[in-house]
Amino acid sequence: MTEPVVDIHLAEDHAARALAADARAGLSASPKTLPPKWFYDARGSDLFEQITRLPEYYPTRAEREILGARAAEIAAASQAHTLVELGSGSSEKTRLLLDSLRAAGTLHQFVPLDVSRTALLDAAAALAEDYPSLLVHGVVGDFTEHLSLLPGEAPRMVAFLGGTIGNLLPAERAKFLSSLRDVLAPGEWLLLGTDLVKDPETVRVAYDDSAGVTAEFNKNVLHVLNRELNADFDVDAFTHTAMWDPENEWIEMRLRAERAMEVHIAALDLTVTFDKDEELHTEISAKFRKEGITAELADAGFDMTCWWTDTADRFGLSLSQAV
Ligand code: SAH
Ligand code: AVI
Repeated sequence: MTEPVVDIHLAEDHAARALAADARAGLSASPKTLPPKWFYDARGSDLFEQITRLPEYYPTRAEREILGARAAEIAAASQAHTLVELGSGSSEKTRLLLDSLRAAGTLHQFVPLDVSRTALLDAAAALAEDYPSLLVHGVVGDFTEHLSLLPGEAPRMVAFLGGTIGNLLPAERAKFLSSLRDVLAPGEWLLLGTDLVKDPETVRVAYDDSAGVTAEFNKNVLHVLNRELNADFDVDAFTHTAMWDPENEWIEMRLRAERAMEVHIAALDLTVTFDKDEELHTEISAKFRKEGITAELADAGFDMTCWWTDTADRFGLSLSQAV
């Protein structure tokens, strides 16, 4: 087996240092907020994988259906020598792309990038074993910071799957898309997965499943704060909520304090007070319409050349070219 190469752009103490800054700012704000990237320690990444298998959580299955039907077309159109994957997680669905790009004879290198060290290392090792002639060059990094450090020979196709772009606020999305455009040469590719606007109840239950896995995933951020910043959150005193926001067309996850409490965050020398029923905002997951995402891509300098949905029109996958 060829060992994967892995670049680590996040120092061992990254979680502690960057989380400290985000927690200080977010827990002192009104309303209190935390960025969703802090869900993904080893347990959070594992909980996300469990979510993808829940009956209520349709996005993974819908995107896999599209990739299964279209991977050969995507490979033929892009002729990519390098496949980059941002927020790659387990890279499970990505195997459909790797198989098609290998069959097309163009692919030399796969570059998964993820902020979760364990998810990235596990996926890179498994892929290197299963694709022995492929150069797997993983990057532990943040896709909002480390795009300019991506390795790989052109033409590259950057896959950003799962609907993770929807976890960015609109202004963050615009900044992310134009930063990505800046590091690509004209003619290189973006393969983007976007969950679509649909009946709100279908979306709501996907984010509040009956087995309570999403609740555990949401609360995991409090375990991360307790461990990394020596905080004393009573995790059981918070309730997971998921609410559809019809104006913004996103589902929003929050953690509601069931009683008034004081939380001490020792590493920050900070005490935070929660009122009873006060909510900590932890994630938005925006849902898209074809016209909206086409315009956002165009604003960033991408021309959408293909758009596919699953048979139930739940999820969209677009292929765009940097202009
Ligand atoms: N692409 C996979 C995983 C989606 S889960 C799929 O479609 O199933 C979101 C992934 O993005 C997680 O693995 C998480 O660790 C990663 N992630 C979240 N924010 C990130 C950031 N700012 N930079 C890099 N990776 C990030
Ligand atoms: C990673 N991301 C696309 C997931 C989503 O659906 O927004 C994260 C998630 N949050 C709750 N369930 C899954």
